[in-house]
Amino acid sequence: MASHPLLIVVLAAGQGVRMRSALPKVLHPIAGRSMLAHALANARAAGAARLAVVVAPAMDAVRAEAQRIAPDIEVFEQVVPSGTANAALSARPALERHRGDVIVLFADTPLLEATSLRALLAALDAGAQIAALGFEAPDATGYGRLLLDAKGRVTAIREHADASEEQRRIGLCNAGAMAFRVVDLAALLARIGNDNAKREYYLTDAVAIAASDGLTTLPVRCTPEEALGVNSREQLAAAEAAWQRRARRRVMEAGATLVAPETVWLAFDTAIGRDVTIEPNVFFGPGVVIEDGAHILANCHVVGARIGGGARVGPFARLRPGAAIGASAHIGNFVEVKNASVEAGAKANHLAYIGDGRVGEGANIGAGTIFCNYDGFNKHFTDVGKGAFVGSNASLVAPVKIGDGAYIGSGSVITSSVEADALALERARQEQRSGWAAKFRAVMGRRKKPL
Ligand code: UD1
Ligand code: MG
Repeated sequence: MASHPLLIVVLAAGQGVRMRSALPKVLHPIAGRSMLAHALANARAAGAARLAVVVAPAMDAVRAEAQRIAPDIEVFEQVVPSGTANAALSARPALERHRGDVIVLFADTPLLEATSLRALLAALDAGAQIAALGFEAPDATGYGRLLLDAKGRVTAIREHADASEEQRRIGLCNAGAMAFRVVDLAALLARIGNDNAKREYYLTDAVAIAASDGLTTLPVRCTPEEALGVNSREQLAAAEAAWQRRARRRVMEAGATLVAPETVWLAFDTAIGRDVTIEPNVFFGPGVVIEDGAHILANCHVVGARIGGGARVGPFARLRPGAAIGASAHIGNFVEVKNASVEAGAKANHLAYIGDGRVGEGANIGAGTIFCNYDGFNKHFTDVGKGAFVGSNASLVAPVKIGDGAYIGSGSVITSSVEADALALERARQEQRSGWAAKFRAVMGRRKKPL
C-alpha cells in the first residue's frame, strides 16, 4: 500500500433540499457529531495520507467543521451544486497533484466503516482500477443500482431516477464510496456528462466510461446498515437508530450491562469501562467517560462528564460538561453537577446544584444545597473541603471556601469562608411559645363561621 498513498475526497456540497433545514445537510448530527465529522473520522481511520473536502461557497459552517475535525484538510468549493461528479472534479487541483489511490466518499453516509474503505483498496490491489461499494438494499428506492456482467464486474451504475423497471428490481445498490487507481482521474471525471433525469453530473457514470476504456470496476459489499444514506429527516432518524444499535452492541461486548439497551443513548465517543451497569432511559452526550464498576441508575442525562470507578449516579441525575465524579462517590436524584468535581466517596444524594466548584473527598452535600455560582455577570468557585458536612437547604454563595471537616447548619446562606472543623450557622434563632398552637385552635374554632 505504501506505493499508493491515499487521498480521500469527501463530498459535502450538496444542498440536501429534502432535509428542509437552515442547517446544511452534512452538519446534522448522528450520535452527537455531524455526519461530516463521521465521514472524516472514517477517512482518517482508513489510512488517508491526504484529506480533501468539497463544500458549497456559502457553507462557511461546513468548511469550519471540516477544519475543526481535520486541520490539515484541503478545502475546495463547488460553485454550482450540479452533481457528485462535478463535486469530485471541484477537487481537481488535489486530484492532479496526487500520485496514488483516491477514494471519493459522501458526507451523508455516517455509518460507513473504515474496514469497508480498506476493502475497496484491497480490490484495487487485486487488480481493479475502480472499486465500488455496494450493498443489498431491503428497500432500494432512491439508490443507484450496480449493473454487473457475467463475471461479476460492474459495467455501470444506474441512478434510480434513470433506471428501467427491470433495473429497479436489482437489489445491489451503490453505497456511495468508490476507490480509484486511475492514472488521470480528473480527466476521467471530466468526460462525464449530464444527460440524465436530474441534469446532474453523476460520479457513478465514471464506471461505464472506464468500462468503455477497458478498465475494470469490481464491487465490494458492505451491510445495508453501513450504507444508510441520509437525504431526509426520516433517514436521519433511521441512521441514528442504526448507529445506536451498533454502539450499544459494542458497549455490551466490552463488558457493560445495559438493562434495556434500546433506551440508552450513546454519543460517538462515549467510553464505558467493564462491569458498568446502566439502567433504562439514560442519555449520554459527547465527552463522557465511565470507569469500571460504576452504576448509572435510571433516567440520567450526562454530557461531558467523567464518572469514576464504582460511583453511583442517579436516578434522575444531570451531569453537565466538566462534571468529574470521583471513585465511589454518590450523586442522587435531582442533583445537577456542572464544571465541578465531586471527589472520591463524597455524596450529594438529593436535590442539589453543584456548579463551578469542588466537593472534597468524603464530604456530604445535604438535600437542597445550592452552589450560588452566578452573580448575573460572572461565575465564581465554591470549594468544599474534605470530609465537610453541608446541611440540607444551604446556599453557598460563591466565591466561598468551606474548610476540611467543617459543618454548615441546615438552611444557612453562607457568604464568607468557613474555617476547617468549624460550625457555620446563618439563620434566625428558633423561638418556641409553649401551648400557643392549642390556644390558637381554640380561639379560631370559636370564631369560625358556618360555610
Ligand atoms: C448518491 C449516489 C447513489 C447512491 C447514494 C448512496 C450519485 C449520482 N448517486 O445518491 O448512486 O446510491 O448516493 O447514498 O452519486 N454532493 C455534492 N455536490 C453535489 C451533489 C452532491 O457535494 O452537487 C454531495 C452531497 O453533500 C452528499 C453526496 O454528495 O454528501 C451525495 O449526494 P446526494 O445528493 O445525497 O446523492 P444521492 O441522491 O443520495
Ligand atoms: Mg445521499
